[in-house]
Amino acid sequence: MEAETDTRPFAIVTGASRGIGAEYARALAAGGYDLLLVSRDVDRMNRLALELTARHRVQISSEALDLAEPGAAHRLYVAARQRRPTVDLLINNAGFGLFGEFVEMPMARIQEMLRLHVNTVVESIRLFLPSMIEQRVGAIINVASIAGLFSVPYLAEYAATKAFLITLSEALAEEVRPAGVRIQVCCPGSTDTDFHTTAGFKPKNPLGTQSAAGVVSISLAALKHGPALVTIGWRGRVASWLSRYVPRAVLARAAAAKMKPTA
Ligand SMILES: NC(=O)c1ccc[n+]([C@@H]2O[C@H](COP(=O)([O-])OP(=O)(O)OC[C@H]3O[C@@H](n4cnc5c(N)ncnc54)[C@H](OP(=O)(O)O)[C@@H]3O)[C@@H](O)[C@H]2O)c1
Repeated sequence: MEAETDTRPFAIVTGASRGIGAEYARALAAGGYDLLLVSRDVDRMNRLALELTARHRVQISSEALDLAEPGAAHRLYVAARQRRPTVDLLINNAGFGLFGEFVEMPMARIQEMLRLHVNTVVESIRLFLPSMIEQRVGAIINVASIAGLFSVPYLAEYAATKAFLITLSEALAEEVRPAGVRIQVCCPGSTDTDFHTTAGFKPKNPLGTQSAAGVVSISLAALKHGPALVTIGWRGRVASWLSRYVPRAVLARAAAAKMKPTA
């Protein structure tokens, strides 16, 4: 049993309790990965673990962690090392949106977002990457958003943290390419999950929504040979074209008109 476990690849999925993270977990379990699921919701993760082990011969464990707390990346690293000596794939997916006027946002929620989207992701990459480089194998997927390609009024700090993830990931992908390690930044558009309810708004992307399973299948298919920045389907291609060829000020003005909260 132990020997079999050691031959299966091992992946960590943060934000695995639902939405896109749960779909990454489903796809990876189907592909023969042992998994460490991470979020704050133990019950949902346990239910997902039962579903996956009933269908596939893999080991699924979960860790309840608030990844917006200081020191969370280190706790994640320790939890992973307790299970396996090496990680083949780390998916930094946990995230949430904050919709509304910046000056109205509670400071605590802004700080939570910065720690979850920026601090914890940077620290996790710093902790997990060295052994991947040393063994010349492994991959990291950072889930950003097409919002990170634009300046988005009323989603300002969300879009800014995702822009940070895009720049960081593209740069690191080049640094580690010679070592055979892959870094992808996955940029979904509006996706059918609980995300918009948590953020407090209905999807306002004029390009429509896509499924979480569709996002995951494109992301994983692109991991080995695709580009560092992965957008999803025709909606992603349109968004990335707009971000390259339309002046940023024009896009920001148009986004403000679209996103402005109604009283
Ligand atoms: N849905 C979209 O339209 C969309 C578009 C572009 C990008 N994205 C990105 O996709 C990623 C996944 O979002 P989703 O659409 O799947 O949303 P979701 O259904 O709301 O799932 C969010 C996940 O993140 C976890 N999470 C949130 N805060 C956490 C914290 N402090 N500590 C640990 N886990 C935390 C949640 O777990 P618990 O609450 O159970 O802890 C949950 O598993 C996010 O990074 C989001 O920015 C989403």
